Amino acid sequence: MNKNLTTKRKIIIDVDTGTDDAMALILAILSKEFEILGITVVHGNQPLPFTLENTLRVVQFMGADIPVYAGCPAPMVQTLTPGRMKNQRLQVFEKTVDGKKINIHDEHLPLPAAHIMAEEKHAVSFLIETLEQAKEKITVVSVGPPTNLGMALRMKPEITKNIEEIIIMGGGVRRVNRTSAAEMNFYMDPEASEILIQADVRKVILPLDATTSALFTRDDAAKIAALGTPHAVFFASLITEFIERLTILGFSNNDNSADRAIAIHDALCILYLLDPSLVTDLRRETCDVDFFGGYADGALIVDSRSAYEKRGQNYVAYHVDKERVMEMLSERLAIPAATV
Ligand code: RIB
Ligand code: CA
Repeated sequence: MNKNLTTKRKIIIDVDTGTDDAMALILAILSKEFEILGITVVHGNQPLPFTLENTLRVVQFMGADIPVYAGCPAPMVQTLTPGRMKNQRLQVFEKTVDGKKINIHDEHLPLPAAHIMAEEKHAVSFLIETLEQAKEKITVVSVGPPTNLGMALRMKPEITKNIEEIIIMGGGVRRVNRTSAAEMNFYMDPEASEILIQADVRKVILPLDATTSALFTRDDAAKIAALGTPHAVFFASLITEFIERLTILGFSNNDNSADRAIAIHDALCILYLLDPSLVTDLRRETCDVDFFGGYADGALIVDSRSAYEKRGQNYVAYHVDKERVMEMLSERLAIPAATV
């Protein structure tokens, strides 16, 4: 075996491809440090047929040969309780402007329709079989509602023995977006989120507190587009498109709403794997996700009482270094896809 061959980090990415999931997939595909064993798709930003099509479009656009698995089309149990969500202060994610439906994440990404197909096997079966049979540990990246992972962990909890760690975009300690208490991913399947959070494996959580500590502007998008590769230009267009939509929908990730800028949420999970130092504030926390269907449904609860010893294996990020993120984006998005 050639000693110079560095072993690649085996990863599985679970997505609900929308805009920032696409950014994460592009960065993961471009990173030769990874062997992507599979991409599992879940409901979330859009219904599963759309998140699946968008995922296939990104893989096709990048010319990658990575198996894609369709997963759960709905949360484990959340929608079974009549009226569970009627009291929650839901953030408007969609508006009709001049007769046109504007959503944060469109049904279709502006890429050619996919002609590649998803695998026959269900995403949850793929997760269980791959993790059960793994000869070396696998890192899992979760950037959508964690229904697929929750189901896999419920069916075979022992799969955690072959997981290196799980990097999760989800939750919000001081910052939320879907309701007055919860972030989108955890809100869309509170039960699965709590199963994930309590799993017996190291988890690094990048909540909105971390992801909104690095906001990207039109100027940043212009710098990225100037890199000139097709995926850099596309990545930049996703940023500017995200800014447009947030402006139309009337809310922003930053306090000064006049200075429109967006968080690239999911993409940070991939960049964190490539350089953990970009997270400048990471703390072990005792965490839970509320799933009782009240105002706090789906809320990430961090026990800040210092008198209590920490429980569980959850490490929560509170801040990322934007300059380091921008540096990595400039390095990585300049790489021609064909060389990967
Ligand atoms: O709250 C942000 C998360 O919700 C991201 O994963 C985004 O893609 C949406 O799914
Ligand atoms: Ca996502």
